[in-house]
Amino acid sequence: MPERWYQQAVIYCLDVETFQDSNGDGVGDLRGLTSRLDYLARLGVSTIWLNPIHPTPGRDDGYDLTDYYAVDPRLGTLGDFVELVHQCDNRGIRLIIDLVVNHTSDEHPWFVSARSDPDSPYRDWYVWSPTEPPNAEEGVVFPGYQRGTWSHDEQSDSWYHHRFYAFQPDLNWSNPAVREEIGRVVAFWLELGVSGFRMDGAPFVIEEVHPDTADRVMHYEWLNDLRDLIAWRRGDAVVLAEANVPREQILEFFGPRGDRLPMMFNFAENQQMFLALARGSAAPLVTAVQSSPAIPPAASWATFLRNHDEIDLSGLRESERADVFAKFGPDKDMQLYDRGIRRRLAPMLGGDPERIRLAYVLQFSLPGTPVIRYGEEIGMGEDLSLDQRNAIRTPMQWADAPQAGFSPAEETVRPVIAKGDFGYPAVNVRDQQRDPESLLSWFQRVLPVLRESPEFGSGKCTVLDTRHEAVLGLRYDCPTGSVLAVLNLGTDAVTVDLSPQPGVTDGFPVDVFADRDYPAAGDLSAVELAGSGYRWLRLSRAVGA
Ligand code: NOJ
Repeated sequence: MPERWYQQAVIYCLDVETFQDSNGDGVGDLRGLTSRLDYLARLGVSTIWLNPIHPTPGRDDGYDLTDYYAVDPRLGTLGDFVELVHQCDNRGIRLIIDLVVNHTSDEHPWFVSARSDPDSPYRDWYVWSPTEPPNAEEGVVFPGYQRGTWSHDEQSDSWYHHRFYAFQPDLNWSNPAVREEIGRVVAFWLELGVSGFRMDGAPFVIEEVHPDTADRVMHYEWLNDLRDLIAWRRGDAVVLAEANVPREQILEFFGPRGDRLPMMFNFAENQQMFLALARGSAAPLVTAVQSSPAIPPAASWATFLRNHDEIDLSGLRESERADVFAKFGPDKDMQLYDRGIRRRLAPMLGGDPERIRLAYVLQFSLPGTPVIRYGEEIGMGEDLSLDQRNAIRTPMQWADAPQAGFSPAEETVRPVIAKGDFGYPAVNVRDQQRDPESLLSWFQRVLPVLRESPEFGSGKCTVLDTRHEAVLGLRYDCPTGSVLAVLNLGTDAVTVDLSPQPGVTDGFPVDVFADRDYPAAGDLSAVELAGSGYRWLRLSRAVGA
């Protein structure tokens, strides 16, 4: 079994404030989450990633924070956090937290001090310009909601840089004092027992910004320093980075010797998955997997279908994006920032159980470690009446009970989805736990199989020629054995011939997971698949076959 735990992990992302309220104030909290750990253990989750848990004015779901060393009092205390870590340990679950170090809230005491006095010790912790920079309106991340990347600060009559919203001033990483402080932040949370971090906006963290030019120098060496620090403090800790950058640049983030960030979200493949599902064609993924750069052995992709943000389709060609919009987000209100879709997966796929399961098997079949988001396992929907990305950040639906069993309070942090096909009376954990045919029961079956198949996380992946436009075939080999994943992205039943390919006919193919009982795959010359069908076939196993 390979050593690197994160290559065999199943990561579950959640926002504490919308997961489970324990004290009746309408806001989810750490004690509430702790009370639900057995649910996550049974689901087959091995690692939990918490969206930001720090004190915040709450203008960007916690990504605007005011104290790196504390827990948002609405969520609990540091004591509750340590207890959560302990209870995770008891169940063999690891915890990672968001590391938001590109920027702070404009209400962070550092920025309050920096803007109030040019001689403040924190003045150089942010990026300033005495006059309006010529490129002040370029590079916005949230078009329609963000005017530019430099804003005027009246208090100090100067301009400050912010990659994201104006209330999120960027920290000046060129200042060694900032890097040292972030090192202390990282060390602090490692000491409290986290197994690593999800690093927010990694490319923006390491760019050196000057007011007079749009050119940016990228300081990848700062990532080496971060990695070194983490490795010294906790050898097996991981950094899972958000870097939605062109493929050529990705390798720089992993580092030429895998000595920077060990794990990166695969944004490019995320978009190709939606294109493939929209078109019922395997072609986008064949190209994506084949053209994916080889990454260092210790490095790993993280795959995802939905995260807490919009689905960013900006990497697709215009005609491709149009197809995905037409199929999955046709109304203007479902789209966001001129590039994405602000919906959850189940409604995008029309609530069709076969397509939903196919989509997840597709995600799990691609190279890398899967990340799933709370509520996906029961097929939750979105509330488009909520602003921007909040549409997909509604409370977890635990039961057909008041406030979906999330909270006894009359008012909750965000309204629960109460009506329609995806409201809590129709979609909730309790009902699905009792139904062996439910999506939740299916997740409880597929995740253990995935974890029993380390090939998916760390094997060598080869794309098979299935000679069928709709069928994706992937083979994984690693010292533990070999598996095939064969998926029909179309809706018509097919039979594919995988036999003449070198190396494919070894072993005795056994279905380890499939959408239904199929005739044995035999010599692989006639592998049957139903419309939207899928099969994971084990070819050989080194030990315990
Ligand atoms: C990326 C996060 O995923 C997103 O939710 C947030 O708004 C921005 N970073 C700004 O922190």
